[in-house]
Amino acid sequence: MQFKTIIEPFRIKVVEPIRRTTPQQRQAALEEAGYNVFLLRAEDVLIDLLTDSGTGAMSSNQWSGMMRGDESYAGARSFYRFEAAVQEITGFKHVIPTHQGRAAERILFGSTVKPGDIVPNNTHFDTTGANVEYRGGTALNIPIEEAHHPSLIHPFKGNMDLDALERTLAEHGDRIPLVMITVTNNSGGGQPVSMANIRAASEICHRHGVPFIIDACRFAENAWFIKMREEGYADSTPMAIAQEMFGYADGCTMSAKKDGIANIGGFLALNDDALAQTCKNMLILTEGFPTYGGLAGYDLEAIAVGLHEALDEDYLHYRIRSVEYLGEKLTAAGVPLLLPTGGHAIYIDARSMLDHIPWQEYPGWSLSLALYLAGGVRSAEIGTVMFGRKPDGTEAPADMDLVRLAFPRRVYTQSHIDYLIEVITYVHSIRERISGVKMVEEPPVLRHFTARFAPVGGALMG
Ligand code: F0G
Repeated sequence: MQFKTIIEPFRIKVVEPIRRTTPQQRQAALEEAGYNVFLLRAEDVLIDLLTDSGTGAMSSNQWSGMMRGDESYAGARSFYRFEAAVQEITGFKHVIPTHQGRAAERILFGSTVKPGDIVPNNTHFDTTGANVEYRGGTALNIPIEEAHHPSLIHPFKGNMDLDALERTLAEHGDRIPLVMITVTNNSGGGQPVSMANIRAASEICHRHGVPFIIDACRFAENAWFIKMREEGYADSTPMAIAQEMFGYADGCTMSAKKDGIANIGGFLALNDDALAQTCKNMLILTEGFPTYGGLAGYDLEAIAVGLHEALDEDYLHYRIRSVEYLGEKLTAAGVPLLLPTGGHAIYIDARSMLDHIPWQEYPGWSLSLALYLAGGVRSAEIGTVMFGRKPDGTEAPADMDLVRLAFPRRVYTQSHIDYLIEVITYVHSIRERISGVKMVEEPPVLRHFTARFAPVGGALMG
């Protein structure tokens, strides 16, 4: 007998209370925070879906691993356990720990990218693109055409446009120090990349003599989508799929705060001896000795265990299915989403849902505030507030105005998801009453983190 209900594949040993607030308290909290959810106190949030990064719940095995942590400055046992876990999954020769993903990016690009260079990617995450640009390079996004259409269904909407890759390498090969591919494609909606696309991109890069590097933050979720959707992989384990994915690449950057299910940590892994040596020298300068790289021994232990737990089939099944379930219910209620639902998050198409709010009044930002005011839910705008200010000082609409609800790993249960369905459906039903916002204070860079806003016309929900 095969039962249909998918359960959380864990039981709860430690609980952390979350606090209900009244609409009046949330209104006051929003005013104090300048209508910016980044400036709220976390204790005023009931369900926190700001990010899936570093917010996961660690397992009893990870916590017991932490007690084994060897805090020796050099050559700690914990490093060798960490190195073995990364090597088993990725097969890469050199494993360089870093305090989080962007440190791996900074060290890699700092060792490879020169002014005028180009780094193609399906879609760069903000920090990845910013680290390329900081070196004077251009961060080039070349996702497939389907990625630009929110409601269009495609099984591997995270794929890279291989013709564009071939063309870019043929035209500018001498200015391309490496090519990256992000699995799953976070900035493109948490969408997976197929094995066929990874294999073909790798073949193109290697034919042009250019290294191919995976941004591996959500490698386990990507492996699960390949198992579910790509012909020939249904009987493979997520581990075998991950090993094959990494087998096509020359290295990876990783934020272990995602599919390492750790609260902090990351790594850079490479096959090239000389490049790895340069990166280790940079690491010593800014992160730490190569056997700890800015992490405690206990962090290395937590990651070594977490990387394996992220590949567990029951866990991946529960995780991806709960996001998909939420997507199905919201779609049935008429809420416009970026489809199909991705791995770690759902993305609401706020521009379409709040079509009475012009882009200049930031519909994504307004929707994110409305979700907090209505139900204490914290999400993140990925739209014109985040991307609208151009380097020349002008303002333009972002490609899309989305609101991302990202799920911490193993933290929320089915009833939390059911609550979210109620809140989002309610907000959708009163969408005409939601007003736009204006920015009243704008910092010079990465404005979304600290800008302050006010509702146009005084009240957020009329
Ligand atoms: N690459 C991708 C695809 C990411 O999603 C992130 C982080 C990073 C690199 C950088 O890693 O934060 O450890 O330095 N994404 C988080 C998010 C912050 O909310 O999506 P980091």
